[in-house]
Amino acid sequence: MLRIAHALNSQLLGALERAFPEAAAAARQAGAPLETQLGPASKPEFGDFQANGALALARPLRLAPRAIASAIVAQLEADPAFNALCMPPEIAGPGFINLTLRPDVLAAEVSRRLADPRLGVPSVAPGAAPVIVDFSSPNIAKEMHVGHLRSTIIGDSLARVLEFRGHPVLRLNHVGDWGTQFGMLITHLKQVAPEALITADAVDLGDLVAFYRQAKARFDSDEAFQTQSREEVVKLQRGDPVSRRAWQLLCNQSRREFQLIYDALDIRLEERGESFYNPYLETVVADLATAGLLVSDGGAQCVFLVGEEDGTASQAPPVIVRKSDGGFNYATTDLAAIRYRFAVPPAGDGARRVIYVTDAGQASHFAGVFQVARRAGWIPVDGRLEHVPFGLVQGEDGKKLKTRSGETVRLKELLDGAVERCEADLRRRLAEEERQEDEAFIAEVAITVGLAAVKYADLSTNRITNYQFSFDRMLALSGNTAPYLLYAVVRIAGIARRGGADAAGAAFPVPLVFDEPQEWALVRQLLQFDAVIAEVEEELLPNRLCTYLFELSQVFNRFYDQVPVLKADEPARGSRLALCRLTADTLKLGLGLLGIPTLERM
Ligand code: ARG
Repeated sequence: MLRIAHALNSQLLGALERAFPEAAAAARQAGAPLETQLGPASKPEFGDFQANGALALARPLRLAPRAIASAIVAQLEADPAFNALCMPPEIAGPGFINLTLRPDVLAAEVSRRLADPRLGVPSVAPGAAPVIVDFSSPNIAKEMHVGHLRSTIIGDSLARVLEFRGHPVLRLNHVGDWGTQFGMLITHLKQVAPEALITADAVDLGDLVAFYRQAKARFDSDEAFQTQSREEVVKLQRGDPVSRRAWQLLCNQSRREFQLIYDALDIRLEERGESFYNPYLETVVADLATAGLLVSDGGAQCVFLVGEEDGTASQAPPVIVRKSDGGFNYATTDLAAIRYRFAVPPAGDGARRVIYVTDAGQASHFAGVFQVARRAGWIPVDGRLEHVPFGLVQGEDGKKLKTRSGETVRLKELLDGAVERCEADLRRRLAEEERQEDEAFIAEVAITVGLAAVKYADLSTNRITNYQFSFDRMLALSGNTAPYLLYAVVRIAGIARRGGADAAGAAFPVPLVFDEPQEWALVRQLLQFDAVIAEVEEELLPNRLCTYLFELSQVFNRFYDQVPVLKADEPARGSRLALCRLTADTLKLGLGLLGIPTLERM
């Protein structure tokens, strides 16, 4: 529908221009050209679109808005291109112009979508600059936690949408593989488990996490240990071969553990950890000094922030780029990363949009480093830096997610738990329905639905709000859940099996013919897909896509419950089968962009 909306918008602009040539010329001259204010209709009774531009013109033209609307409508009705798209417009309320597309235009649009594997979503022109999605990004030698899981799921979905639009996407895993934590860990291991530093897999990750906890405790309480750890970091950062080898071993171990999760969830990521930016840290600080941004504050090198609007001093704490002991920190690395990501290749990635997916707790960190990077002049004029924050994952009690015994939940166990629950539900359902299925089928359904449920639960809530992790809710067969959507796909696959060759799309009627309100509701919902994708691409909110797909399934189910399909006569039968096919295609593509594969049976 975006294509049609664009066409309508230019027709409306033409009509405005012809109805009020002087006002249009004057507005253009003043640098504020007249606007149509075309948007979707606020209610289905009003048609497909409404144009509210007449209201804003009332004052400059000194005319009643309804009179302005009538003049525009008169021009529209004299335009054959407009009449080919729309029914005669209606003027409503104070002067809104309501536009309803012609039934043949809608039906032709459905036919066009059926023949288009992109379902009406345009591709960006080839040669577009890369978009970076920085997501997942767990920390080495620490456990990957539910926050990282959320980042992984949301980031993957955003990357899929951007890739589908044709952007070259760099999916970067900014793992925490540098800094004080290694100093502590290596110092501690040298004393208690030296074999871990020279032999691969001498300890497993669970032990490593425990060692890390012990090291941290010692670091916080023991001054000598602290000094040793700091020296160890310096050694590592200078490239001491023994420290480097120990570091490599520790990283590999965590990496393999993370990979289990990525494989289970079908996530592709390119690891480019904090250590990658180590060689650039000195230059970053030097650049900031040259730009006159650096201030020494109690021995630390900082950049003081300013208010985004007025440029006056900000209340926010300064961004520290070099600690008084000479060490760099998280913010310095992020500044180096920004500089590298926007820099023109081969010096950097040449990106134009960089997206960070982390919990909302890091919002001020990103606001700070984004500002510093901008003031340092590292962001091209059309460069976009966006933090995509999300809320906390909570248990059903509203508290931090914990196991029964009070420990942090291991992600692999969480995913396995969803699959097991799903399998138990499925076996119960099969028994009730007296259905026989083989083990391979049961395993496939349980894995697909279980993982889909975890992903969808995460993606379908507005990501800013905290979200309560509940197997019961995410696995429910009704409501805004993955099983409900997957079931709609299965239902349509069943119709297609029973409908034979023409249901498979061998030959849908030309033109398609619809009369029932349920059919039109489904047509209109289907045709929104491209607009929804455009919105997700812009606002980075996967829950918009979820809501859309949920509503599509509901509209489809209403249609299928109330209107005969296979028993109808032609051309209604074929036209309705076409709607079934397009619904399935849209659900499959949409779920695919959420990282969720579909099933033919479940
Ligand atoms: N490792 C960080 C954490 O676990 C997330 C990193 C996010 N990306 C970034 N460029 N800072 O919280």
